[in-house]
Amino acid sequence: MHTSAAELGDSRSKDLALALERHEREQPGFWDFATNRRQGGHAFFQYPAMMVPELQGTLLDDLLAVAPDTTSIYDPFLGSGTVLLESVYRGLSFFGTDINPMATLLSRVKADPPSQAEAAAVVDRVVTRAEAATDEALHTFPNRDKWFSDEVALELTRLRTAISAEAEERLRRFLWVCLAETIRLVSNSRTSTFKLHAYAPEDLETRRPQALETFTAVGTSNAVRAGEHWKRIHALPNTQTAGAISIVRGSVLHDVNIPVRVDAIMTSPPYGDNKTTVPYGQHSYLPLQWIDHADLGADFDADLLRSTHRLDTASLGGSLVHALNTQERERLETASPALRYFNAALEGKPDLLKKVLSFSRDYELALRRSARPLRAGGFSFWTLGQRRVGGRELPLVRITAEFLMAQGHTEVSTIIRQLPRGRKRMAVRNNIGATMATEHILVMVKE
Ligand SMILES: C[S@@+](CC[C@H](N)C(=O)[O-])C[C@H]1O[C@@H](n2cnc3c(N)ncnc32)[C@H](O)[C@@H]1O
Repeated sequence: MHTSAAELGDSRSKDLALALERHEREQPGFWDFATNRRQGGHAFFQYPAMMVPELQGTLLDDLLAVAPDTTSIYDPFLGSGTVLLESVYRGLSFFGTDINPMATLLSRVKADPPSQAEAAAVVDRVVTRAEAATDEALHTFPNRDKWFSDEVALELTRLRTAISAEAEERLRRFLWVCLAETIRLVSNSRTSTFKLHAYAPEDLETRRPQALETFTAVGTSNAVRAGEHWKRIHALPNTQTAGAISIVRGSVLHDVNIPVRVDAIMTSPPYGDNKTTVPYGQHSYLPLQWIDHADLGADFDADLLRSTHRLDTASLGGSLVHALNTQERERLETASPALRYFNAALEGKPDLLKKVLSFSRDYELALRRSARPLRAGGFSFWTLGQRRVGGRELPLVRITAEFLMAQGHTEVSTIIRQLPRGRKRMAVRNNIGATMATEHILVMVKE
């Protein structure tokens, strides 16, 4: 029986929707993944709003079952590289982009970490060298004293020098990630929030973080995790050769062009609160002050570190529309009736309306540009949270579906999962204090 491409696409959509629904039917709460622990390369560094690896892995498995000709995945907002690793573990090629240099550094390390023995040896070498150092000059950058005590800054300076002395860039990058996680733990900024927010003076009095000791612990754990990673790679069936991996730092809004066709998109875009609750840039600002910029790659842009806010301003929704352009607003609201309905209730709140429109303008363009390399009949998976704006939930799932439908995509399915409270760093607080309780995975197909 002959099946046309359109029919094939349609039957694949149905098969995928059924496969996704079956999990929940056979095991209620399947998508919650409430008890999973991050392992291997997934645990090298605590990046904000990380996805659940097993969840994205299940989506990939279901995708491969209905579309076995899938060979390449694109994540336009790669973050910590969750989809990257899960793709690699299935022998798929992977393209990833992110505006944040910390995300691309981490992803490059996750794509090719040292072996456990190499990692343990290099951590040992660096710690020995840093312990033996006697120089007293501190590495400097604006406001360093606010974020680091002199004792911590001295130990971090010695670690920085000791890492720079390593000859191999691949090893240095692994060490920079270990240093970044160390900095997250020993700086004067609270670990309970993604924002830069200094501990109260009385807490700083009693806090005595040890950078060398912390680095040793992080490095030792990350060496074990590197070992776990390679075990998984070596367990790949012989028939599966590792796919190509390409990671580019840049904004999907203008810099990035994926030069090839990809079979699927799997991603989690920012939800539009990068200035308030999930400031990816602020979270990465301090580590990026210590890491040698020469090791961040040719696509690094030093201007992003001009201030603690620069990276978040350059990110999706970060730069506000100056005037409410009615033509542009009409175009966005025509594409998304859910956005029109939401905005109508913000009429008396011009500041909030401006924020929602700025984010929507960037978001619509980001979806358009991200989906450009997706092949006809290709699926896209969008992990989404719905934050509150002006006391109401912004219907990001509907807005995403409607924007994509206006660009020639069709809805396949939507998964809703409960976020484990308190445990998962995804359970972000919004600006009025309520906690996001659910997360959605919207699945679309490009016609
Ligand atoms: C929700 S996070 C992704 C988290 C990721 N899924 C994970 O598991 O770690 C969203 C990412 O979008 C990135 N981002 C924001 N604006 C961007 C832009 N204009 N272009 C590319 N990436 C951007 C942020 O730096 C952040 O890493």
